[in-house]
Amino acid sequence: MRKLYVETYGCQMNVADTELIVGTLGTHGWVRVDTPDDADAILLNTCAIREHAEERVLGRLGALARHKRRPGVRLGVTGCMAQHLRDTIRAKAPLVDVLVGPDGYRHLPGLLADDETDPHVGLRLDGAETYADLPVARGGGVRAWVTIMRGCDRFCTFCIVPFVRGRERSLPGPVLVEQVRAAAGAGAREVVLLGQTVNAYRHDDWDFARLLREVAAVPGVARLRFTSPHPAETTNGMIEAMAECATIAPQLHLPVQSGSDRVLARMARDYTVAAYEDLVARLRAHVPGLALSTDVIVGFPGEEPDDFAATHALVERIRYDSAFLFKYSRRDGTRAGKWPESVSEDDKARRLTALIALQESIAADINRGLVGATVEVLVEGPARRQDGWMMGKTPQMKTVVFPGPARPGALVTVRIDATTAHSLRGALATAA
Ligand code: SAH
Ligand code: SF4
Ligand code: F3S
Repeated sequence: MRKLYVETYGCQMNVADTELIVGTLGTHGWVRVDTPDDADAILLNTCAIREHAEERVLGRLGALARHKRRPGVRLGVTGCMAQHLRDTIRAKAPLVDVLVGPDGYRHLPGLLADDETDPHVGLRLDGAETYADLPVARGGGVRAWVTIMRGCDRFCTFCIVPFVRGRERSLPGPVLVEQVRAAAGAGAREVVLLGQTVNAYRHDDWDFARLLREVAAVPGVARLRFTSPHPAETTNGMIEAMAECATIAPQLHLPVQSGSDRVLARMARDYTVAAYEDLVARLRAHVPGLALSTDVIVGFPGEEPDDFAATHALVERIRYDSAFLFKYSRRDGTRAGKWPESVSEDDKARRLTALIALQESIAADINRGLVGATVEVLVEGPARRQDGWMMGKTPQMKTVVFPGPARPGALVTVRIDATTAHSLRGALATAA
């Protein structure tokens, strides 16, 4: 057995890709270890979404270079940054042996073993690659990540994803249902369907709504979630499935990016603020107790103070349960990457700080309303900070900590007695 050490950066799709990489290398004699110290191969599965993500990896490569002193050790960069910044990596981290992009994982065993003769094979985008036939080494925990589609065809002007993950393609429905069945058989209670535009899923006569219903019916799956849906891909069929399938959790991450129509148009997001708010209203009308989260970018080229004010006002109106708030980061190769940056770093920072303060107060307020309520918690494992305490999630994906005992995978009822903007605390009411 050869030892494989992998670090994962970026989004859940990369977490799932790491499980694919580990599963695939597992059939070629590799076993995953949790330290680089005696590994035969070290892989960084990387992200390219913002400059900061890439800087972190270059720094990490510098720190890991010392392992190359051990004879035979292979150092690899996989994922979106390998695809995006191959030349920079080759120049700044010359000890890297293999570069493999998101469509090249099938070739990893050959590349690591050095019996692959085509050095470019790892970085070729392949619009037909879905890895539907390759084994995935799932973590074995309560939650299973299942990639249902890969790539993205939307080309939002700020975004690198379509360039590093290539064209949109979906896996066959029956293959996915089988993967979910296997994950549930191995003990997973919650399934999260993944894709960059997850609700654009389509394969033969399966659309996203049908896939949701078929997966929701798999025995053993207590909760079904999916991320990230694109507002412009959201159909009534998806909303009806959420309303009718008890297994589908009342929680949605619905990235809005901006509250200004002018900015949304320049981002090529394909919806207006009014259309987005109408969608939120329909979702809330059909799915009681729906928790909403979002992504927002501040400081996009051309964002004027009144555009930002519109974003601030939208966040105030919608009242998200949580939000990921980002400063715009220029990405080479994208359309917006060619536009002059009009918002200074200082203004970006000021806008971000204002939005964070607003969101924190909204989230704290929403959670405060839960004091005294009993919530259903799917237990995940020990709490990080308190000995003897357990943590889990509500259907709305809120983190709950409570004194044990409770078995991971159990559904328990917790009475909430204290809250913050980011978590709830309580005591077991009844155990199911
Ligand atoms: N597919 C998802 C987004 C995936 S990327 C969607 O379309 O909604 C996750 C988030 O990163 C995006 O929603 C966006 O808010 C942010 N992001 C993407 N590119 C960015 C950039 N160049 N600068 C700053 N944030 C960016
Ligand atoms: Fe990027 Fe837009 Fe595709 Fe999301 S939909 S991955 S933001 S191009
Ligand atoms: Fe990053 Fe690639 Fe995901 S760029 S956000 S790891 S799709």
